[in-house]
This record gives sequence, structure tokens and C-alpha cells, in this order.
Amino acid sequence: MRVLITGGTGFCGRHLARHCLASGDDVTVIGRSASRCPEGTHFVAATLEDPAALAAALRSTKPDAVYHLAALSSVARSFDNESELYRTNVLGTLNLLRAMRTEAPEARLLVTGSAEEYAREPARSGPLSEGSPLGPVSPYGVSKAAASLMALREARSGSLDVIVTRTFNLTGPGQATTFVCADFADRVAKAAAAGQSRLEMVTGNLDARRDFSSVAEAVKAYRALIEKGERGRLYNICSGVARPIREIVERLAELSGLELETRIDPARLRPGEIPEIRGDSSRLTATTGCRVGGFKTALAELYLERLELARGGAAG
Ligand code: GDD
Repeated sequence: MRVLITGGTGFCGRHLARHCLASGDDVTVIGRSASRCPEGTHFVAATLEDPAALAAALRSTKPDAVYHLAALSSVARSFDNESELYRTNVLGTLNLLRAMRTEAPEARLLVTGSAEEYAREPARSGPLSEGSPLGPVSPYGVSKAAASLMALREARSGSLDVIVTRTFNLTGPGQATTFVCADFADRVAKAAAAGQSRLEMVTGNLDARRDFSSVAEAVKAYRALIEKGERGRLYNICSGVARPIREIVERLAELSGLELETRIDPARLRPGEIPEIRGDSSRLTATTGCRVGGFKTALAELYLERLELARGGAAG
């Protein structure tokens, strides 16, 4: 299969590109710079903000499938950069949809949305299913909801073969320290590499509960959806388990052997934060046979990667 990945040089995109290559696909990634382009893939310089470059990339690649992963993905930062956020996540998706209508109307498109699109439901007892109401709290969630709805409309109107995911929290090697697992793992690894036995960690809300999965398992689900997903449908990508953020600190204490003391920094608390986000992935499993999880392994791999980097830094 010939596949094209937007955001193929990012965290999820690099994992996806490697999985597609291992599955025998011919992989092209588009991005700003070839420097983070995974080995074995083709690179085309194009951004979501440049419709002509997107169209040219589709024309030259002639993909059977397009994975749309490129986005500004930090919820925390989205409160401060709304214009840039909507330009990239909403108008950028529109540019891609338009380019596909003219240049690759037969290709299957997977658009990755987010659990942040769902409404806050404090009294909710069960997990979020694809039929749960929308009602994003963060600008990031609004941008992803808009992009998802635009993509689904393409399928309804018959112009494109689109599948949309609502992806919950992911982690694993290569994640940026903007996100909680990589941020905490990085700080603990640096302390461990420096020979410390204890560390005071400044954090945000440790009582929030999130549904974490391994990025490696999520990208397998993405490819399985390209193969088996139903046109115009939404699929949650999640484990079904909500873990308190505090658990990340506890696991890192076990992995490092360090004594970790936490202190809340009010500046790290988010306005109107959703206390618990947990999903139901039964539609994904029924359609593809995939089950997504693997949080503990992914966190351990991420910690070891950060430790190696910190030791290299300490040695250098
Ligand atoms: N980043 C960060 N730093 N988060 C913290 C901290 C901290 O020091 N302390 C507590 N948290 C809490 C946040 O308040 C949030 O409840 C949770 O940790 C996870 O934060 P992030 O890792 O920044 O991810 P997110 O949940 O906001 O968004 C991620 O998941 C979405 C899907 O649910 C991102 O990967 C999004 O792109 C994704 O769509």
C-alpha cells in the first residue's frame, strides 16, 4: 500500500511510519524538515498551511491511504495560541480535505481526533463511547472537534472515504516533554543520572484521571482501521482504564528507585480541567480485533530512553 502521513516526523507519526514500513507499505511523510524523517520513508516538504504544496505532495505520491496526524497537540498551550491553533488544526485540515478532493479522491483518509472533543460529564458513570456528546473545554478540543466534523462531512457527502478516530492519551519513546509522562520521566531520569536519591517534583493536578495507552499499540489500530474501518465512522482509541496522574509519579519512583516528593504549582493547573477521561474501545475491537493498552511498558520504555539521554548528557 502507498501511504502518506501528515505529521510523519512527529511523535505518533514516526511510530506510525515505522509500523507501516514493517507492514510492507511504501511510506511518504510530509513535514517541515527532513531531519526527523524516519529511515526508509520518503520525505516531501509541505505544511498544512500551504495548499499548493499539499496538492503537489498528493499528486506526486498517489497514495492509497492518507493518515492525517499533523496538528498542534498540546491542550495546556492551546489556551495561549488560539489563532495559530485554529490555523493549523482547523484550516490546515480543510486544506488537506480540499487537496484530497481534487488530487486523491479515491484514497482512504484517517483523521486523528481527540478525547478532548467530548463534553465534561461529572456525573457520568460509564466510559465515553463514540455516541457521547461533544462539548470541548479547551481550545485544542474545539479545534479537533471542528476538524473531525469537517472530515466526517466529506464522507457523508460522498466526496471522500474518511475514517475519524478519537484518540485518548498516548505515551512512549520519542514523546515531547510538553506532555505529562515525558515531562515527569525526563525530570526523574535527569535526577537519576546525576546520582540523586530523592527529587522534589513540581506538578499540576495529580488527581485528574486519564486513559493512557502505548503509542505503538495506537498506531497499529490506525493501520487496522485503514484496512478494516467503516467509511464515515468514528472510532475511540483507548484502553478503557482511567489512571490518576499520581500513578505516573508512583511508577517512575519504582522504575528509578528515587524518592519522589510532589508539590502542586498553581500555574500548572488548567482552567476547567475535566476530572476524568476514560473511553470505550469496543467499536474498534469489534471492527479490527485490536485492543489498545500497554501503558506500563510504554512508560518504562520512555523512562529508559530519557535515562540514556540524560546519561549521555551527563557524560558529555
Ligand atoms: N503536561 C503536564 N505537566 N500535565 C500535567 C502536569 C504537568 O506538570 N501535572 C498534571 N498534569 C495533568 C494535566 O492536567 C492532565 O490532566 C494530564 O496530566 C495529562 O496532560 P498532558 O500529558 O498534557 O495531556 P492532555 O490530557 O492534556 O492531552 C493529551 O491527550 C489528548 C487525548 O486525551 C494530548 O496527547 C492531546 O494531544 C490528546 O488529544
